[in-house]
Amino acid sequence: MQTAEQLSEIEHFVYRLFSDDITGHDYYHMRRVARLAKYIAEKEDANPFICETAAWLHDVGDEKLFSDPHVVIQEIRDLLDRLSLTKQQIEKIKQAMQDVSFRKGKTPVSLEGKIVQDADRLDAIGAIGIARAFSYGGAKERHLYHEELDNHTIQHFYEKLLRIRDKLHTATAKTIAKERHHIMQQFLEQFYQEWNFPSIENRG
Ligand code: ADP
Ligand code: NI
Repeated sequence: MQTAEQLSEIEHFVYRLFSDDITGHDYYHMRRVARLAKYIAEKEDANPFICETAAWLHDVGDEKLFSDPHVVIQEIRDLLDRLSLTKQQIEKIKQAMQDVSFRKGKTPVSLEGKIVQDADRLDAIGAIGIARAFSYGGAKERHLYHEELDNHTIQHFYEKLLRIRDKLHTATAKTIAKERHHIMQQFLEQFYQEWNFPSIENRG
């Protein structure tokens, strides 16, 4: 089986699993992460096919997304077997997936795992990251922002999103993160300006 055909099978598998997800883990999240991972792998001299495949599958088996992750994990095994990949390819893909999926927040052991984790984190920042945060906050019925209560979505920027830039592993991801980080800072500045409008100097 050709590489393009293998990737297309994986994409279809992911599309079927995630097409109706609205928790921020939809098919397009997987596609963005797969494309980012492939790009980073090419720049970092890692294996683009392994990174792209593991990225497509990085959220499959996540306990918070699947009531019975074991069923899906078995489906992945069957899928990888069907694709006539080499044993070594399957091992590497599994390693990278496990690095990201089951060791959330921890540093992956393999370079491929690091790349997929970087790609996943990049999709949580920038304009898309802002949109995902408010979408998540909405789904959890959280305030956009609150002056007395915590647990609002703006708080998530300080707790997680603005810290991502310094947690990335690869130089390529760090470069991509610069603009995305800057956009979040600008967004927050504008947000407070509008929140406090008219500011003292603009009050008639
Ligand atoms: P992943 O499973 O892709 O590693 P998460 O499940 O932690 O990531 O988050 C998925 C998306 O939801 C991300 O864009 C993240 O920023 C957002 N998110 C997670 N927790 C919160 C929160 N408390 N408030 C707002 N957004 C959140
Ligand atoms: Ni993800």
